[in-house]
Amino acid sequence: MNKIAQIFETLEYGPAPETPDQANAWLDSKNRVFGHFINGAWTAPGKTFPSTNPANGEKLAEITDGTSADVDLAVKAARTAFPLWSGLSGYERGKFLYSIARMIQKHSRLFAVLETMDNGKPIRESRDVDIPLVARHFYHHAGWATHLEREFPDHVPYGVCGQIIPWNFPLLMLAWKIAPALAAGNTVVLKPAEFTSLTALLFAEICERVGLPKGVVNIVTGEGDTGAALVNHSDVDKIAFTGSTEVGKIIRAATAGSGKGLSLELGGKSPYIVFEDADLDSAVEGLVEAIWFNQGQVCCAGSRLLVQESIEERFIAKVKKRMANLRVGDPLDKSVDIGALVAPVQVERIRDLMKKGVAEGAVVYEPDGAVPSNGCFLKPALVTNVSPANTLVAEEIFGPVLVAMSFRTPEEAVALANNTRYGLAATLWSENINLALDIAPKLKAGVIWINGTNQFDAAVGFGGYKESGYGREGGREGMGAYLKPKWEKDLKPAPAAKSVSAKATNPLDAGHLDQTAKMYIGGKQARPDSGYNRPVHGPKDDLVGEVGDGNRKDIRNAVEAARAALGWGTTAAHSRAQVLYFLAENLDYRRDEFAARIKAQTGEDGSREVAQSVERLFAFAGWADKYDGAVHNPPMRAVAAAMVEPLGVIGIVAPPSRPLLGSIALIAPALAMGNAVVLVPSDRSPLSMTDFYQVLETSDMPSGVVNIVTGESVGLAKTLAEHDGVDGLWFAGPAEASAMVEKASVGNLKQTWTSRGLYYDLADPRFAGDYFLSKATQVKNVWIPYGA
Ligand code: NAI
Ligand code: MG
Repeated sequence: MNKIAQIFETLEYGPAPETPDQANAWLDSKNRVFGHFINGAWTAPGKTFPSTNPANGEKLAEITDGTSADVDLAVKAARTAFPLWSGLSGYERGKFLYSIARMIQKHSRLFAVLETMDNGKPIRESRDVDIPLVARHFYHHAGWATHLEREFPDHVPYGVCGQIIPWNFPLLMLAWKIAPALAAGNTVVLKPAEFTSLTALLFAEICERVGLPKGVVNIVTGEGDTGAALVNHSDVDKIAFTGSTEVGKIIRAATAGSGKGLSLELGGKSPYIVFEDADLDSAVEGLVEAIWFNQGQVCCAGSRLLVQESIEERFIAKVKKRMANLRVGDPLDKSVDIGALVAPVQVERIRDLMKKGVAEGAVVYEPDGAVPSNGCFLKPALVTNVSPANTLVAEEIFGPVLVAMSFRTPEEAVALANNTRYGLAATLWSENINLALDIAPKLKAGVIWINGTNQFDAAVGFGGYKESGYGREGGREGMGAYLKPKWEKDLKPAPAAKSVSAKATNPLDAGHLDQTAKMYIGGKQARPDSGYNRPVHGPKDDLVGEVGDGNRKDIRNAVEAARAALGWGTTAAHSRAQVLYFLAENLDYRRDEFAARIKAQTGEDGSREVAQSVERLFAFAGWADKYDGAVHNPPMRAVAAAMVEPLGVIGIVAPPSRPLLGSIALIAPALAMGNAVVLVPSDRSPLSMTDFYQVLETSDMPSGVVNIVTGESVGLAKTLAEHDGVDGLWFAGPAEASAMVEKASVGNLKQTWTSRGLYYDLADPRFAGDYFLSKATQVKNVWIPYGA
């Protein structure tokens, strides 16, 4: 070996430390003890806890543990500031956001160093990724503020937003929460994570410097119970949370029935798929980004490597070789790849999970070499020899631990990738564009990266499917999540529904009716599992018919049929439109018969309701091929295709009034967007929809796409809410039952819409557009390499 080659072989990195002096000077200027930032001023410190540097265990500052009285004070300040802030023009608000972005750029190194000291992430990341993305987020939303009125007509801000963020990207998560909230005209109370409050407190100072009106941004520090106090505060209008799925579920249950807006960005176990035709060296580099970026403490970390069997050995060898070159150490050293984990408790948690995984058969590879003994350091780890049931495959580890499995065919890759309760992100590598673009739509995740990974931009929505939560941050979707329709505040309580007659009747009295309307499941008429029927009464309590009394089993059958019909979602939009037009046509053809049936049940002339139902089907047929996505141009060598996808199976419990339109107005948008539906029609007047099966059968609607189960609404709604095969649930009914539905939907975090006892006039044209279309869909952002 010649001399130069030798030097290259042995070349060691010299230390390249970033100085902590300015960050320390800032902390000293605060005497290293902090109160909250409320109403534009600092409160006196209360009971405090330490914030430490996980790389060396040194205490950085004392942070106040917020009480519910502190939270209350902050919410009051935000409430008081709301009229002024929301009353400013978008342009005025935009200028504040712009100033914040400028100030963050101006002080970017201070923010980066402080972030690294408090969190343990390598300075290279806080400097080159976190802080630039923070500035970008404020710039982007300065623009949204300016254009809000035109882009979101008839929308208003929620009011006071409670925002709770995790410790893995402390300032970036703050930016993702605060920038859109302020752009929309909301005021906020934000609680940083207990391990990492410092950059949020520095940010509060930026708010002071730019002259943000007092009370618009309030920062209350503290632990989980401080967060819970914010969630449960009755004067908070919306909660936005990022963190563990476990706490996300607690928050979903706690806000059920409150009418608070809610967005949840939760955990993940994202697949990283490498096909045999991938550029393997690039895929290895991507993998380093996917799982060792931020020590693997990333909600969208590519923590499950799925590699095609034919290249498995070669690829794993390359990965191991690369792992040996990763430098673990002082996060303030500019040439360190892997810094410290956030806190000792996380290190323990990861070690415990690994022990468990190993006991279940996993084999762990870690490169040679030592890591600093003092501080929260872990080596990068590669786990093999695991089955899908292994703890390390199923659980979010949130550490530098990669789990590898192999697959033979693309179909198997998709099945393995989707075999998780999460659905945040997925990465795939292939040089074959056909394969890549065939697989991307099949992955059940909110973000897909093709031949790249961990790309983020303010213009591109980010958020998950399934138990990874709901709502998006960034992009138009993220902006919309901080706005609500103007008319919502004018909704009046729904008139008390006339209850289904409780009159004790001899069930045999109904025997003279020669026909009981059947349920409709999987394209077939079905008798109720219970073997019981329910009477249907007219306006004068006269018996006008009978329907099956559906139960749990009928719902299960219907959900199974709906799941088998999910192919509807990939049917061409044009074809779905044709079926909806056909439904409209066939309903119109039988309008007299349907009008008479409405009259028999309600006493009202039904012809107008039938006409409105036909029109609504027509309207959504028109939407089927128009409510679609966008292509974003983030500032990197890629485009992000924002694809609008159906939720899957939507349970729809129709309101008691308007036996036909009440159901049609809800199923039409769901069907137009490609969902399969389990419908519980009006429990008082179900006959219009049991008649409707004949229209379905003559309109080329594939079996199983629409299933109709008659019976008592609230009981059936509960069963739907608890069923993990249901992806979304819309419930029109009383307030208490709406709360029950929201609470019971916690299991698989299904997306719910409930009427909360309010009267939604479904005949109103405002329901013929994106109101329900947006609830019937979720956006998947597919990042595709593009341009130079
Ligand atoms: P966590 O979900 O408990 O903490 C996130 C935030 O929620 C913090 O600000 C915390 O104070 C707050 N919080 C906790 N309990 C609350 C409650 N009942 N009501 C309102 N707010 C509450 O996460 P933690 O315990 O810090 O980390 C545990 C695990 O969670 C991690 O190992 C990781 O697996 C996962 N995690 C996932 C994140 C993600 O972005 N997907 C972020 C943080 C944690
Ligand atoms: Mg800390």
